[in-house]
Amino acid sequence: MDFWGQFKPGFTILAPMEGVTDIAFRQVVAKATRPDIFYTEFTNVNSYVSEKGRPNALERLRYEETERPLVAQIWGTQPEMFLETAQGLKQLGFQAVDINMGCPDRHVVATGGGSGLIRTPARAVEIIRSTKMAGLATSVKTRLGYTYVEEWKDWLSTILNEHPDALTVHFRTKKEMSKVAAHYELIPDVIKLRDKLSPKTKLVINGDLERPADGQKFIEMGADGLMIGRGVFHNPFCFEKEPREHTREELIELMKYHLDLYEKYNITPYDPLKHFYKIYINNFPGASDIREKLMQTKSILEAREVLSSL
Ligand SMILES: Cc1cc2nc3c(=O)[nH]c(=O)nc-3n(C[C@H](O)[C@H](O)[C@H](O)COP(=O)(O)O)c2cc1C
Repeated sequence: MDFWGQFKPGFTILAPMEGVTDIAFRQVVAKATRPDIFYTEFTNVNSYVSEKGRPNALERLRYEETERPLVAQIWGTQPEMFLETAQGLKQLGFQAVDINMGCPDRHVVATGGGSGLIRTPARAVEIIRSTKMAGLATSVKTRLGYTYVEEWKDWLSTILNEHPDALTVHFRTKKEMSKVAAHYELIPDVIKLRDKLSPKTKLVINGDLERPADGQKFIEMGADGLMIGRGVFHNPFCFEKEPREHTREELIELMKYHLDLYEKYNITPYDPLKHFYKIYINNFPGASDIREKLMQTKSILEAREVLSSL
């Protein structure tokens, strides 16, 4: 099956976000408005291949059939571990794997993984080749460079010469983190590079898009897909084709659904769930008072009590 070939130009993706896009939140976004593709949070290959780390890795890779099309994202530094993990993903029913070459987290970079791979291109190439051997659709998600924007041409050429099925570019460097505006001015040049080196690779644009309409001009230029991350925090309905206002009741319903899923999948501990509350309890009169009450809750049960008193 040609995983990436099934999507029409302008396809949309919910970005992989550690601590956010787990099995519960993906289903929340699917209920609000589905993007064309979901990604898992990133899973470490060392963790997957070790007996001790495997249960945690498997938990991060849980999904329901309704979440397909779904891409599993993995990170690490050892090519043979990527292969073993990708083979495992195949057994778990995944059709597509994405290699993280963009994470700027200092713990990840210290291992040489994530955006650390931008500084070791030969290793990055080995990782792509090794992962591909598992036979899954194989894609890469990365940034323009490590320190300087000017690195983009060499770095993205290195990746494109390996002909990944898709390449997502977050249009910033590792050093820029998310502190400056994404360098959209480079999009036409990156499209040209893709057309020259690997025309079949689907090019996905990422960085600062709040809704698909924001990236439509890039699709018209020749990009294939649009990936949205933080936009979903500002509007869980951000993938709507025809955006409309959503009522307080709709947002509260969505939050209740999130609570139900957190419970259904037995996700622990409770406190990280509170980070999501501002997504739902926002932009309506009295929202900040309700949020304050919710922040003091210690369980899903208590959160439900706050909601039922509204
Ligand atoms: C909380 C958080 C967690 C993230 N975790 C991941 C991750 O696991 N893998 C990854 O490739 N990118 C990760 N990212 C980066 C996003 O996928 C995306 O590239 C970035 O947020 C820029 O897109 P945006 O402006 O649409 O948010 C994360 C971003 C955030 C905010």
